[in-house]
This record gives sequence, structure tokens and C-alpha cells, in this order.
Amino acid sequence: MFADRVLSGMRPTGRMHLGHYHGALKNWVRLQEEHECLYFAADWHAVGINPARATIFIQSRVPEHAELALLLGMIAPVGWLERVPTYKDQQEKLADRDLSTYGFLGYPVMQGADILVYRANLVPVGEDQVSHLELIRELARRFNHIFGREPAFEEKAKAAIKRLGSRRAKRYEQLRAAFQEKGDEAALTAAREMIDAAQNLALGDQERLFGYLEGSRRVILPEPKPLLTATPRIPGLDGQKMSKSYGNTIMLREDAASITKKIRTMQTDPARVHRSDPGTPEKCPVWPLHQIYSDEARQAWVQKGCTTAGIGCLECKQPVIDAIIAEQEPIKERAQKYLDDPSLVRAIVADGCERARKLAEETMRDVREAMGLAYT
Ligand code: TRP
Ligand code: SF4
Repeated sequence: MFADRVLSGMRPTGRMHLGHYHGALKNWVRLQEEHECLYFAADWHAVGINPARATIFIQSRVPEHAELALLLGMIAPVGWLERVPTYKDQQEKLADRDLSTYGFLGYPVMQGADILVYRANLVPVGEDQVSHLELIRELARRFNHIFGREPAFEEKAKAAIKRLGSRRAKRYEQLRAAFQEKGDEAALTAAREMIDAAQNLALGDQERLFGYLEGSRRVILPEPKPLLTATPRIPGLDGQKMSKSYGNTIMLREDAASITKKIRTMQTDPARVHRSDPGTPEKCPVWPLHQIYSDEARQAWVQKGCTTAGIGCLECKQPVIDAIIAEQEPIKERAQKYLDDPSLVRAIVADGCERARKLAEETMRDVREAMGLAYT
């Protein structure tokens, strides 16, 4: 269970725009090449999320998320939740809206269930979600501490070591000593990989061996880590963050004429009233787009042309327009098949939900057993 498993989700807030693409989806596409990945919600694969590589599903179709959220809620201290920065911010910002609900306070618990129900260990998220991940790690730790306790843990762990076979048992002991005595993190990782690969172990034994590396509890829910990848923050047409609520977006699969028009009418450096007035790219919302879409040579061309009034703003914008249209070309092509036949999307999602549910059910069997809720 410690072989890397990536999980990420996105709230389906409407049609996707370039902010979603550069902020998350491009990264998801790359991660599926390297890890087992689970991504939840619909309409994705047009940007290259490949259903043969990544499991694509819908959260509400896997009811185990809700069951685990309920159970985690029983051990989630309210104080931890109230201190989460996104909760505090939102409460202040949206004072007029009624967000004083139990569900809203519990958002990170639900998010924790999303992740822990797959025992995913890597979670690609933005900076703003790191505090959620921290809380989720503490929740997992608390869960294992409370429910991973069992009588005669040490004897059972030692018996499990024996069942590894003598060569692996010896290596396990060595790696465990290296971690416990010298804090050798690489040894911990190596030991986890070895246990993960030991297919003949019963799951209870596997959890004991994971737990015995670090302490005296079974690890039922491993702690997930945020996977922070530098994703360019794509500015909207007005230079603010691109967001539907600011009305400053360029959509994924927007038609070329509309993209052209939006960018041609974009604000530029207010100092450039006339073509002959020099400008400063750093004061222009077009410049961050060049930083994403233009190579160094073209960026140098913008710098020189703008500051010397050598180029006009429309001339400056054209390469950005071309780059965005070119970027969307293959996305549109891939999407067409699904637009023509939406039943393909439904089949992919149905299949993804089924795969996700199998994984979630495995975890829940263990969770119920550890909590004394296994009645069959
Ligand atoms: N909180 C994320 C957002 O606001 C969405 C999300 C829900 C998520 N559950 C998750 C992301 C689990 C990663 C992992 O976009
Ligand atoms: Fe902006 Fe380019 Fe015009 Fe300079 S030349 S103000 S960078 S659009």
C-alpha cells in the first residue's frame, strides 16, 4: 500500500478554463506516467487524462467516502478544524453568506476521507491546500494511534517478520534498525517498498510490519503527503487570478475567433496610450502570458519592443494568441470523439467508479474491523 498512489480531485464548478489546465490538469497528465493515479470528477480526459492509465471517477458514486468521513469525524477535534486557514478566511470573506454549517467546517475531514479511503500517499494540491493535508496527516496518525492498537502487538509483528522468509526478515530488521537508531528515512522507504511488494502477506500483517517500523501500532491509514509541483499561476484577462467569478477566463476548447478577440481587447500598460509611447511589460497583464507561452528569445523581443515603442500592443499579443490556439488544438481534437458520443464518457466514468469502489472497499473492510464494526 505504500507504492506511490496519487489521488486528486477538483470541484466541478463549471466549464474548465486555462487556470484549471495550467494549475492542475497539465500536472495530472504528467503524473499518470509515473504513478498509479486516481482523479475524480468528469469531462477530464479531453486534456489527455488517459482512462487507461488513471482512474477517473465521481466522488458521490463511491459511498465509502461518506462512510469514512463519518468515522473520521468521530475523532476530529473541532479545534483543529476551526484553525484551518481556508476556513477562517472564508468565514471572514463571506460573512454575508451562511457558511456556518457542520459540513463546511468538516470540509477537510471529507477531503481526508477522499484520500485515506484509497490509502493514497501523494496528493497534488496547490499551496492553499497544504494546511488541509497537514490536518489530514494528523487525523491519520490519530486514527492509527487509537485503532491500530492491539494486544500483543510486538509478538504479532515479530511473527509477521518471520513469515517474510529469512532473507527478507533479515533485511527488514536491518532497515528498521537504521531508521529507528539513525533516523534513516531512505531505509524506512526501502522497508515499506519491500513490505508492499511482499504479496504473500495477509493485510493485517502488512499493517503490523508498516507500523512496527516506526512504533507499536498497526498503520491502517498511511499519512499522505502533498505533492507540490510548480504550476504557473495563469493570470486572467485583467491580470487578476483567472476565475469564473471574475469573468476573466479563457475556456478550454474556446473557439479561435473568441480567443483572438478576448486577447486583442485585453488591457495593456496604461502608459501606452499612443503607439509611440514606450511601456513597461511588468505593468501589463499580457506579460505574464508571454512568460508562460513564449521562449526567452520572444520574451526579449517583447521587453525591447515594448520599452522602446518598437512594437505595437496588437503585434505583441499575436504570438500569445497563436500559442493559446495551438495549445488547444489537440485538446479539441481529443474532445471531439466524446462530444460526438457522450456515452463513451459515461462508460469511462462508470468503469472508474467501479475500480475506485473496489479499492475503497478494501480499506473500509480494514477500518471497520479495526474499529470493531465488522459484523459478518
Ligand atoms: N479541496 C480541493 C479543491 O478545492 C478539492 C478536493 C476535494 C481534493 N477532495 C480532495 C483535492 C482530495 C485533492 C485531494 O479544489
Ligand atoms: Fe503589454 Fe506588449 Fe503592449 Fe508592452 S507591448 S504594453 S507588454 S501588450
